[in-house]
Amino acid sequence: SSNQMWGGRFAAGPDAIMEAINASIGFDKRMAAQDIAGSRAHAAMLAAQGIITSSDAEAMREGLLTVLSEIETGVFQFSTALEDIHMNVEARLKEVIGAPAGRLHTGRSRNDQVATDFRLWVRDQLDAASSGLTALISALVAQAEMGADWVMPGFTHLQTAQPVTWGHHMLAYVEMFARDLNRVQDARKRMNESPLGAAALAGTSFPIDRDMTALALGFDRPMANSLDAVSDRDFALEFLSVASISAMHLSRFAEELVIWSSVQFRFVTLSDRFSTGSSIMPQKKNPDAAELIRAKVGRIFGANVALMMVMKGLPLAYSKDMQEDKEQVFDAADNWMLALAAMEGMVKDMTANRTNLEAAASAGFSTATDLADWLVRTLDLPFRDAHHVTGSLVAMAEQKGCDLPDLSLEDMQSVHEAITADVFDVLGVHNSVASRTSYGGTAPVRVREQVARWKEVLE
Ligand code: ARG
Repeated sequence: SSNQMWGGRFAAGPDAIMEAINASIGFDKRMAAQDIAGSRAHAAMLAAQGIITSSDAEAMREGLLTVLSEIETGVFQFSTALEDIHMNVEARLKEVIGAPAGRLHTGRSRNDQVATDFRLWVRDQLDAASSGLTALISALVAQAEMGADWVMPGFTHLQTAQPVTWGHHMLAYVEMFARDLNRVQDARKRMNESPLGAAALAGTSFPIDRDMTALALGFDRPMANSLDAVSDRDFALEFLSVASISAMHLSRFAEELVIWSSVQFRFVTLSDRFSTGSSIMPQKKNPDAAELIRAKVGRIFGANVALMMVMKGLPLAYSKDMQEDKEQVFDAADNWMLALAAMEGMVKDMTANRTNLEAAASAGFSTATDLADWLVRTLDLPFRDAHHVTGSLVAMAEQKGCDLPDLSLEDMQSVHEAITADVFDVLGVHNSVASRTSYGGTAPVRVREQVARWKEVLE
């Protein structure tokens, strides 16, 4: 038999394959609460505008609440024949309240309905991402505060570069995740406009009040163009872009945790709660959560690309292609939230191994730049000459199998006769980090200032 919602012109029902490719109820049922909120706002507006009677609106209101509770308690029977969440809800409403249900779709289309539901859903996810990012930032700030003056190697090319502080390294990620948070809030502002009332594509001849429904649903205003309202998905793409950038940040940090927790580094110990064992190697404690976070960027960025490809080249206004938007966003959202929560948990639980960090910071001639800077400051050498002298000293130390502070003053003077014993002051890693007091630098005083600033921001 033909579809009860749109089957008037049809003699036969759809082929089973048609139904399989067409139906979205398997995934868009996740927007049930948003769909019902949208319908309630629409019904109340229709009555306020005298388009339907207030008794019909009251029946709809109560019926929609019944349907919502059926969905929430899991007794609702979803039907693939009814395609999507919109028609599943409306069909059930008809069973619950009878004839008045048939007036709910006045001045509305599934095109503005789905655009509204999806915006509401994405908006909730942006809010969840805000919370997740804020919690992660707090956990990182706590790590930074604890280790504001703990010394560790800073790397370039993953080769020892200069000593930095643990707090400084943690705060680098705070900055990145705070920009992600900013992007989330920015995207929310831009997307928070209501498509409801755009109807199929052209608007409607009924005297609807789009400001009223926009307000009821927490939107800042109705969207200004009905064609745009039903056919654009840039809000979903922006969500996926922001999620992709954030997942990229998560992935980089996760990679560092994988490296740092290895036996070769031993910079951090991850908690048992965020590690797994091996089924064959009894000694193993693997950083699986970090590895999975590292990988999540793949599927999130994949979703971003997939939806971009779906949308490119679509003529205005609605096309069914756009139904492909939801699974990508759902999957990306689920995995982004999970990655944020897992990272927060790992960061809260992990222990930085101060002794190992400091030992590593001292290895690899990490204070060679400090030595070159000393030659410039004290002996007034041009930096290039100082660089060369220091390079010779590094080569000498390498040949002797020792570090720079282990060279004797005579060794030093054999390379440059004017070097004095004062030079040894700058070869220690603590002096090195303490000296880097330029704004944004790694010195513990600067790190503590930034920690204080972030604590204030978080309050
Ligand atoms: N399930 C559809 C979607 O997700 C709802 C809109 C259907 N509109 C239409 N004209 N067929 O996009």
